[in-house]
Amino acid sequence: MNDLKHIAIIMDGNGRWAKKQGFFKRMVGHEEGAKRVRELTIHAQNIGLKYLTLYAFSTENWKRSEEEVSFLFKLMDRYLQKELKLFLDNDIRFETIGDLNSLPKYLQKRISDTKRQTKDFKGLTQVLAVNYGSQDEIVRAVNKAVKKGTEVTVDSFNNMLDSSDFDPVDLLIRTGGDVRISNFLLWQCAYAEMFFEDTLWPEFTVDMLDKILEKFQQRERRFGGVE
Ligand code: IPE
Ligand code: IPE
Ligand code: MG
Repeated sequence: MNDLKHIAIIMDGNGRWAKKQGFFKRMVGHEEGAKRVRELTIHAQNIGLKYLTLYAFSTENWKRSEEEVSFLFKLMDRYLQKELKLFLDNDIRFETIGDLNSLPKYLQKRISDTKRQTKDFKGLTQVLAVNYGSQDEIVRAVNKAVKKGTEVTVDSFNNMLDSSDFDPVDLLIRTGGDVRISNFLLWQCAYAEMFFEDTLWPEFTVDMLDKILEKFQQRERRFGGVE
């Protein structure tokens, strides 16, 4: 059995899904995509996963229209308001990675309130990547090290990353058909098994995840060693 503590997902394809359905606005896709997050989170908790990291907004997503960006932030706020009960009832801890400073104040507050209320929970940790870019995270960590004035090791550097509390990624999934990482968890995916799925995120189901988990178990993870 391969160890499976941490799944990370690049939830891509919301805009294309909305278009495919005949909606003029991409936002409909984001709205539908948020529903999949809830289902996947419940499933992840049920299978005993420790960490589920979800790419919600990248440092590059600021390039989108102001309408879309502000919609995404309001959607995250609504999502967290609604899911608090799910977290509280199911022992789920909420965490984030990314630079929260440039987010709207109402969202910063919602995020810190949700973290505070769930911080002692021991089940699944749901990690939302918000205004997250791996390069940005690494540069912020480098600057912390420079300030300290000490040479870093792999372990000490790892401790300076936003993700310092979490185990490395075992399984990375990207939906939406593109085969790229888009600045997500470059360091943490050093030995992740990767799955790129054509399914658009709003159509991604728990059954599809289970099929990926079966394939994940068939992969031989060598971590640089030999059999
Ligand atoms: C992913 O879906 C969600 C975010 C990046 C916030 P997209 O909005 O990128 O959807 P596509 O890739 O344009 O279909
Ligand atoms: C990656 O999707 C970011 C999120 C899912 C939040 P993008 O749609 O932003 O990625 P690119 O632009 O296709 O690489
Ligand atoms: Mg996209």
